[in-house]
Amino acid sequence: MSILIDGKATSDRIKGQIAQQVKEIIAKGGKQPHLAAILVGEDGASKTYVGHKEKACAQVGFKSTLYKFPADITEEFLLNQIEAINNDSDIDGLIVQLPLPSHIDENKVIEAIDPNKDVDGFHPQNVGKMMLNLPTFLPATPYGIVRLLQEYNISTKGKHAVILGRSNIVGRPMANLLSQKAEFGDCTVTICHSRTPDIEYYTKQADIIVAAIGIPEFLKGNMVKEGAVVIDVGITRMPDETKKQGFRLVGDVEFSSVEPKCSYITPVPGGVGPMTIVSLMHNTLKAAENK
Ligand code: GUN
Repeated sequence: MSILIDGKATSDRIKGQIAQQVKEIIAKGGKQPHLAAILVGEDGASKTYVGHKEKACAQVGFKSTLYKFPADITEEFLLNQIEAINNDSDIDGLIVQLPLPSHIDENKVIEAIDPNKDVDGFHPQNVGKMMLNLPTFLPATPYGIVRLLQEYNISTKGKHAVILGRSNIVGRPMANLLSQKAEFGDCTVTICHSRTPDIEYYTKQADIIVAAIGIPEFLKGNMVKEGAVVIDVGITRMPDETKKQGFRLVGDVEFSSVEPKCSYITPVPGGVGPMTIVSLMHNTLKAAENK
């Protein structure tokens, strides 16, 4: 039997704390924190994520502005929009929802964001600071996972963490945070990815598994050690006619076979997803305070 890590309840509690801090700022005559989001194209999942971010802004008392552009905008147009937002003193934080259409260079776009407004923590300057354990905006998903581990008093010290996936958004920053000499770190970390032979060999040794590989139900019960902590970052839409939206959300973990072997496990939905959103709210408040 495992303990279910409730990301929804945890994120609601943190949102309550952020809302209180916003009230105090405004009571002292301060400015309402303001998050801007850029969404390019019509990807359904991206639209949903941005919608969740806007809703969370309203819940904590932030102002939010959504800039929606068609998929065929030029890179130059997008870079000009980013520059205008960088120069808008009312806006504290800016995110550009990824992925972008293939004709736009994602790295160029990320580098165009003012590092002081980069609340996703994707700008090379902020990635570098994270690497060096200097104060910065930590990427929302890895930071949300670290907070969940802390909230549930799951010690990471000396543990073997196996991370499935090497993305710049989750896998690699997660490996960095868990390996740091820090309260939430001190792990021995292994990163597995699409070119790793025999992934099972590693997952069977893991005390903590972070599954961010983007393959629905990839991690099965026979790949997991008894008592492991399993964090599921996966969120794939699988067609399901019995659902109102026509799909159900499936993680990277086969919950039915993995859950009985774990000490702790996150569900999908209601695990990591809400923690990503609340971490973005945390970073936006920090950006506003930094000014
Ligand atoms: N696409 C998937 N995850 C993220 C995220 O955390 N931030 C942005 N901007 N895009 C994403």
